[in-house]
Amino acid sequence: MSIINRREFLAGSSALAGLSFMSLAGCSKKTDSIRVGFMLPYTGTYAKLGMAIENGFRLALGELGDKPFGKTIDFYTVDDESNPAKATDNANKIMTRDNVDVVIGTVHSGVAMGMIKVAKDTGSLVIVPNAGANAATGAMCAPNVFRTSFSNWQPTHPLGKIMVEQGLKKSIFVTWKYGAGEEASASFREGFEAAGGEVIKELFVPFPNVEFQAILTEIASLRPDAVACFFAGGGAVKFVKDYAAAGLKKSIPLFGSGFLTEGVLDAQGDAAEGVTTTLHYADQLQNAKNKAFREAYRLAYSEEADVYAVQGYDAGLLLIKALQETSGDLSQKVKAIQAMEGAEIDSPRGAWKMSKSHNPIQNFYTMKVRNGVNEVVGTAWENLEDPAVGCALKEL
Ligand code: BEZ
Repeated sequence: MSIINRREFLAGSSALAGLSFMSLAGCSKKTDSIRVGFMLPYTGTYAKLGMAIENGFRLALGELGDKPFGKTIDFYTVDDESNPAKATDNANKIMTRDNVDVVIGTVHSGVAMGMIKVAKDTGSLVIVPNAGANAATGAMCAPNVFRTSFSNWQPTHPLGKIMVEQGLKKSIFVTWKYGAGEEASASFREGFEAAGGEVIKELFVPFPNVEFQAILTEIASLRPDAVACFFAGGGAVKFVKDYAAAGLKKSIPLFGSGFLTEGVLDAQGDAAEGVTTTLHYADQLQNAKNKAFREAYRLAYSEEADVYAVQGYDAGLLLIKALQETSGDLSQKVKAIQAMEGAEIDSPRGAWKMSKSHNPIQNFYTMKVRNGVNEVVGTAWENLEDPAVGCALKEL
């Protein structure tokens, strides 16, 4: 917990960055179970992402054995459908009706914004295992909200430098028209222009549409040196296939944040050959933790882990820090938050540290698809920290 907030708390002040003393202290809630809520998409274009996050999280908690700290772990689930319009209702269901000790959620940036607004009122402990909305650990940052994934500013920031180094100076950015796509595009522009590139056009399709024909035609007529993009899940499969089918791949190389190929490379097949991405995880990372994690995940779920599984797993590792500090009693919120602040996580992606605004400070890797494998071709940026614009926590 930040110094001033802690001082205020110890002095008995009710003001703790918008949370009431009661909600943060979580005074009377003590049970013989640990109540974990998943607010994730289980249907729609991000369904696979939600499931991988839940799988990874369960794998981490499983490392504590059957009855950690003498308690059972009870799970509660809400399918948020990646629908921002339902975010407030869904967050209230899991935080108030199910009265969980911690929420693991969510994937879609717009849904995360609605969820965090509710969490700021209820004081619920939240770990964001994917959604990159910059404000979650920026203007809307809060003592009770942590993220184990990335901010939307991070993955596309290193991309422009790599492209310019390859002599590709005029680019188009293509994405879905919603918070994550717009923030990814803005960050790409910042990094690309700083490296000497020029974004000649941004092209959008509404989320979660996958009708790409019109933008592919426009790309062909504008003839940029390269195309960069943000797509994920089912939409990423369709975009990469359509891009190749339109005959663009040979003449205009395709780049993206690593979500473009994560968990969907097999489905993309030959169409993904040659695609270059930057991301905070690569399945080919040769560290011992990654090898053990991938093996354990394969054994448990009979499928390959991806970045979403890692982010869920790391959410579990982060929560374990809070459980260890509180002997499994998450109603001791101040202690739980203290344990999570400044945490160092021994992750399959490589060790990372929690920033003051509660977002990972982490390496970003460059990958290129060769023979159906996402090969690591370099480290695009070491220890990249989100600027956390507008977050008061970092100044305290
Ligand atoms: C987002 O909405 O923040 C997001 C969704 C999927 C992958 C990456 C980011």
